[in-house]
Amino acid sequence: MMTRKSLIVGNWKMNSSHLETIQMVQKLSYRLDVGDYSRVEVVICPPFTSLRSAQTVIETDHLSIRLGAQNVDWHDNGAFTGEIAPSMLSKLSVRYVIVGHSERRQIFGETDETVNRKLKAVLAAGMTPILCVGETEQERDADQAESRVASQIAEGLAGVSGDHLASTVIAYEPIWAIGTGKTASSDDAGSMCTLVRTTVESVGHAAGESVRVLYGGSVNPGNIAGLMAKRDIDGALVGGASLDPDSFASVVRFWV
Ligand code: PGA
Repeated sequence: MMTRKSLIVGNWKMNSSHLETIQMVQKLSYRLDVGDYSRVEVVICPPFTSLRSAQTVIETDHLSIRLGAQNVDWHDNGAFTGEIAPSMLSKLSVRYVIVGHSERRQIFGETDETVNRKLKAVLAAGMTPILCVGETEQERDADQAESRVASQIAEGLAGVSGDHLASTVIAYEPIWAIGTGKTASSDDAGSMCTLVRTTVESVGHAAGESVRVLYGGSVNPGNIAGLMAKRDIDGALVGGASLDPDSFASVVRFWV
């Protein structure tokens, strides 16, 4: 069976100035060691304005922390005021880009179609997309969670195949669990992540086993171990708990 390296991603959302970012990266690095990085790939996604500072600390101190971005535009350049192109991120050593986070879908009107364009642009620029999917509370109550998530995956990954598909990361984040302190039970999260994997298998057979599937939604040091014990959960997308280097380091060190 294929082994998938665990992946813990901190989504800082709209928090931290570039100066605060430097301190946060340094504090996090003091709490992690070589053994932790060999077990878990650790990624932080600070705001755009902090990427350059984070990159500088990471490179100067030779840290194994990897850099991610929270969003991107799909065009290469041009008259798109306020947007950021994929190559601008890759030149800052950004390796991962979150696409289709539920806050982007709900607050900023992103659709499966725009998410798909962004995902393909991220891949074309040599970075790894983290595709976010997840149902609302209403959809869950109406028994539509599975069909909603399956369709977000199929549409988000449309036109993607082979190695690109296999390297994509998918984060299952039930919207009702984000920032609310309510987490899906590890059983529910585990079975939805299995659904994510089988849906990827139905799009591109072999890729299903290699795709890394994350759970997101109120992940914290107290619930991470139960989630990571599930066969189809390879890691977590962590919001609130990633802002405190102590708690984020405890999530990374989930086996301790
Ligand atoms: P949360 O956020 O951990 O604060 O619930 C997760 C996310 O939005 O990715």
